[in-house]
Amino acid sequence: MGILLYSLHVLLVSVLPFSNAHRRERLSLGDSLSIDREGDELVSPNGTFAAGFIQVGENAYCFSIWYARRPGKKTVVWMANRDKPVTTTVSEIHLNKYGTLVLISGGEGKVWETNTAFRRDVKELELLETGNLVLTNGNGEFVWQSFASPTDTLLPGQQLTRNTVLVSKRDAGNYLSGSYSFKFNDDNVVYLIYSGPEVSSVYFPLQDSAVYAQGRTNFNSTRLAAMDDMGTFSSSDLFHFNSSDYGRGPHRRLTLDHDGLLRVYSMKEPNWEWKVVWFLDIGVCRVHGMCGSYGICIYAPEPTCTCPPGFSREDPSDWSKGCVPPFNLTFDQASIDFLKFPRTDYYGYDLDTFSKNVSLENCTETCRKDHRCKGFGFKYRTCYPKFVLLNGRRTPNEPNTIYIKVPTAMAGKEGEGLALIQSSINGSGRIINTSSGKPPSGVVKNLYLRYLVGFVGTLGAMEVVIIVLGWCFIRRINRSTEPVKKGYRLHQVMGFRRFTYTELKKATTNFSEEIGRGGFGQVYRGLLEDGKTTVAIKRLEGVTQGEAEFWAEVAVVGRINHMNLVRVLGFCAEGKYRLLVYEYLQNRSLDKLLFSSDATNVLDWEKRYSIAVGTAMGLAYLHEECLEWVLHCDVKPQNILLDEHFRPKLADFGMSKFSETGAGGGDACRGKFEVSRARGTRGYMAPEWIVNQEITAKADVYSFGVVMLELVTGRSASGVHGGKWNQLVRCVEEKVEERQHEGGTMEELVDKRLQGDYDMAQVELLLRVALLCVKISKDERPAMSAVVGLLLGDDEPKNLSSPASPLVNWAIDRS
Ligand SMILES: *[C@@H]1O[C@H](CO)[C@@H](O)[C@H](O)[C@H]1NC(C)=O
Ligand SMILES: *[C@@H]1O[C@H](CO)[C@@H](O)[C@H](O)[C@H]1NC(C)=O
Ligand SMILES: *[C@@H]1O[C@H](CO)[C@@H](O)[C@H](O)[C@H]1NC(C)=O
Ligand SMILES: *[C@@H]1O[C@H](CO)[C@@H](O)[C@H](O)[C@H]1NC(C)=O
Ligand SMILES: *[C@@H]1O[C@H](CO)[C@@H](O)[C@H](O)[C@H]1NC(C)=O
Ligand SMILES: *[C@@H]1O[C@H](CO)[C@@H](O)[C@H](O)[C@H]1NC(C)=O
Ligand SMILES: *[C@@H]1O[C@H](CO)[C@@H](O)[C@H](O)[C@H]1NC(C)=O
Ligand SMILES: *[C@@H]1O[C@H](CO)[C@@H](O)[C@H](O)[C@H]1NC(C)=O
Repeated sequence: MGILLYSLHVLLVSVLPFSNAHRRERLSLGDSLSIDREGDELVSPNGTFAAGFIQVGENAYCFSIWYARRPGKKTVVWMANRDKPVTTTVSEIHLNKYGTLVLISGGEGKVWETNTAFRRDVKELELLETGNLVLTNGNGEFVWQSFASPTDTLLPGQQLTRNTVLVSKRDAGNYLSGSYSFKFNDDNVVYLIYSGPEVSSVYFPLQDSAVYAQGRTNFNSTRLAAMDDMGTFSSSDLFHFNSSDYGRGPHRRLTLDHDGLLRVYSMKEPNWEWKVVWFLDIGVCRVHGMCGSYGICIYAPEPTCTCPPGFSREDPSDWSKGCVPPFNLTFDQASIDFLKFPRTDYYGYDLDTFSKNVSLENCTETCRKDHRCKGFGFKYRTCYPKFVLLNGRRTPNEPNTIYIKVPTAMAGKEGEGLALIQSSINGSGRIINTSSGKPPSGVVKNLYLRYLVGFVGTLGAMEVVIIVLGWCFIRRINRSTEPVKKGYRLHQVMGFRRFTYTELKKATTNFSEEIGRGGFGQVYRGLLEDGKTTVAIKRLEGVTQGEAEFWAEVAVVGRINHMNLVRVLGFCAEGKYRLLVYEYLQNRSLDKLLFSSDATNVLDWEKRYSIAVGTAMGLAYLHEECLEWVLHCDVKPQNILLDEHFRPKLADFGMSKFSETGAGGGDACRGKFEVSRARGTRGYMAPEWIVNQEITAKADVYSFGVVMLELVTGRSASGVHGGKWNQLVRCVEEKVEERQHEGGTMEELVDKRLQGDYDMAQVELLLRVALLCVKISKDERPAMSAVVGLLLGDDEPKNLSSPASPLVNWAIDRS
């Protein structure tokens, strides 16, 4: 049936052109395509591509090639004159008798032409089924081809060479050349580059580590890159990837989109819809130039541009123009002050770098005295005075603090100066549209599976996985270690490896010492062959995934690396066995300490607070920074492990990937939910679970809110008190409401075992944030990065009046 329909389709497609006198397959010398004749087009033999004039604006047209499979929805893949559109007044594309293809505009004459005048042998112009528009000679050789001058798209088989470059569109509906380009640089490496009106900078490969540490090479001077029919992209600098729908069949294109991200789209019958099957996963906020000067990109939780408080938008319709300061930069030195932005960085444009144990005062002084300095970054006692504040990015784990130079009068108002997140919540920020950048979870899953096929076999392919998937990882590695020279070294640094079942059996002395039972199976203590490394080995139960699929998922989890997340060191997949090897942590899980009846061993307040902050950072990282689609789904004290310094590390994240429904995202959470319920962790579940709504990152926020309440009260939300759904939450809310009417403090709520030894301001802050997190409506809950900001005291919770009576305005609307 399908074949029949297809044949019919092909038949129609190939017959249709002939029903229209103007659609043809080739132009001979002396022929032209006119802008005036409706449907005057060249079509490829099977009708996949067409070439002709496309309207790009009011009375503005460009000679283009587009996908012609969907009438009415033309996807342009090439343009001759993208920056010089022509008008309808007698414009045409003409193959003159000398063999030159010329675009003539009535008003301006020759607008564009091929450089083939010197060739005497040009015979005709032809649009091939590959999408290549070619001038051929008598022998069928190409004298000129559109593939040699791409615009923003590479088609399968089309090469990116030392002489070609992809340039993004200016905007979604605007074909003019934009600010982003993808090309080989002089060092033989393919780069993504932002070129703004004043400045330009490279944002891929990431510049904070060496090219070779990211698995690329600059020694192969061939400078060739291309995607093949199977969906594999390979480049002479070792930038390789497979699209998730690897294989022959679908039509694909690699496009540098107007937002600066590289994506592979794929389309097939019967509906011919474009689907993202690969994208460059560097985090939208890492694309340069996006938020303009002074603008700061934050994940809230969608990537969003914001201006520093007091600054205004230069152009409300175009974020890349950035923000305008409310002062003139020529203010006199005496009245200079600085606004402070923790966990923020403006990338690049350093006037200088002072790294010799510089003091903040010294750095401030340096910037104050230099009239070129607009602000500075400061981290690890290193000072980065900057002459342009661009590529701003704020993430919970950024070690850098930014100081923006302002007149004293303005700094005086610094009080709420850091309410960046707030301003985005109240709508003054713009959401950057990334909907096309986030492939549906099924795609992602498949994507990793594909990567993995290579990954398992060879170390070389390992690099590929790292390049494409491991940015967060690599950044961390390179921060803490010497640059690594070869892929296999990186492999060692990661420590992530595959174990045999025999190895793990030996390490655990035949699984003799059980140390816990988490979701999906028992955990055993083990000692690796080196005799030094103690590990926790989880034997997964009920995982029915095949080996390859399992590897794929493990690879995703294995590359997640953050100080507040338990490291996955390796895995084993042999026959029916599925095991995960984790780092081993000293102090076991939070529940054992927090709810212990041992009065001599009470977790002190300081530790409780830092556990809250650390856990929030780990979650924020999972949700926003590395992989936006990793939800934890089961945040509870049992899954918060503590190291010897009582630093929290979240365990069991990514487990949903191994569940039956393992589709990633919310669906996988549901799979996990069934397990969780059986284990009695209802006390932590967001209302979405119960009413069967969509599960998002805000469900984790809810669970984390409950954990915060537990930290304060020392009472468990599950277990004895957890009989009814959200009993602990309701209990705290009632108490707070009571206080609101009767006045007084919250002491009554605080864990008695602390014996009054705590910081009341911190307790109140933790309670306030916790109650925001457990709002019934998920839209009212803050994103995890906002929670980090609130807990670190940089951001004020909204809806609060004076700090003196912080409890007054808690909007508790739980009707
Ligand atoms: C064109 O269509 C024919 C008939 O369906 C098919 O056999 C051929 O492979 C197609 N050619 C290309 C390049 O897609
Ligand atoms: C350089 O890259 C080209 C194209 O990818 C490849 O064919 C060639 O083998 C590479 N040369 C070396 C020395 O690796
Ligand atoms: C792409 O997939 C093919 C076949 O599965 C595999 O041989 C190749 O190594 C993969 N390439 C990359 C870059 O993952
Ligand atoms: C900055 O200076 C210009 C002229 O020098 C003036 O027109 C403008 O109002 C000043 N802006 C501010 C915010 O002081
Ligand atoms: C850096 O300077 C501080 C204060 O000047 C000093 O206490 C510290 O020891 C110095 N650290 C190093 C590594 O020199
Ligand atoms: C910064 O410190 C260096 C050496 O410690 C000193 O020479 C220099 O004068 C200081 N600069 C300022 C602006 O304080
Ligand atoms: C958002 O908040 C900022 C700062 O708190 C304020 O200046 C701005 O007017 C608010 N915008 C809207 C649309 O409410
Ligand atoms: C974002 O993009 C999607 C698909 O490209 C589109 O449907 C949606 O309207 C866009 N949203 C905004 C706010 O531009």
